[in-house]
Amino acid sequence: MSTFYKEDCPLTDIRRYLEPGPIVLVSSAWQDKTNIMTMGWHMMMGFSPALFGCYIWEGNHSFEMIRRSKQCVINIPTTDLLNEVIGIGNCSGNEIDKFETFGLTPIPADTVEVPLIEECYANFECHLADASQIENYSLFIWEVVKAHVAILPAWPKTLHYRGEGEFMVSGGSISRHRQFKPQNL
Ligand SMILES: Cc1cc2nc3c(=O)[nH]c(=O)nc-3n(C[C@H](O)[C@H](O)[C@H](O)COP(=O)(O)O)c2cc1C
Repeated sequence: MSTFYKEDCPLTDIRRYLEPGPIVLVSSAWQDKTNIMTMGWHMMMGFSPALFGCYIWEGNHSFEMIRRSKQCVINIPTTDLLNEVIGIGNCSGNEIDKFETFGLTPIPADTVEVPLIEECYANFECHLADASQIENYSLFIWEVVKAHVAILPAWPKTLHYRGEGEFMVSGGSISRHRQFKPQNL
C-alpha cells in the first residue's frame, strides 16, 4: 500500500478531487427556445426512484428556463465532444442557439418537452422532483424517468473535470463483482 506525503490544500481546491462524475451537457427548453449548458457538479441521490441532484448557478441562462419548465435532459458526451463541452460552457444561450452554433442534433424526448442531444452516448430525461433546495443552494433534485444509453461501447471515454482547464479521461476498469454485498453492487 502506498503512503502519501501530504500538504494542506486550500479548501477552495477540494472540488478538484471530489468531482468524479462525468461532465454532462444539460439540455433545456422554455417557450419555444432550447438551450444547453455544461455541468460538472452533480450526484446520484437515490436508486428507485432514480434521483439525481445538480447545481445550476442562478446566473446561467439555463437556470430560469429549467426552473420554470421543471424539466431537463442530462446528456453524457464522450471525448470527441471536448471542444463542444468547453464552447457550450463559455457562452450564454441568451445570445445564441447552441444546438445550431455547435452543430448538435436535437431529438424529441419521450416524456419531456426538451430535446435529447443525439451525439451524446447517454440521455436521461428528468422531471423536477424537489424544488426546496433551489433557493438556498441552487440545487435541483431530479427524478430520471427515461434513460437512453448506447449499447456499444459499454464504457465510452468520458470527460471528468479537474478544474483549471484540465480533464481526466475515463480509463480502465477493475471488476470485483464477487466481493460485493448484493445491495452495494
Ligand atoms: C467543465 C465545465 C463545468 C461546468 N460546471 C457547471 C456546473 O456544475 N454548474 C453550473 O451552474 N455551471 C457550470 N459550468 C458553467 C456553465 O456551463 C456556463 O456558465 C454556461 O455558459 C451556461 O450557459 P447558459 O448561460 O446558456 O445556461 C461549467 C462549465 C464548464 C466548462
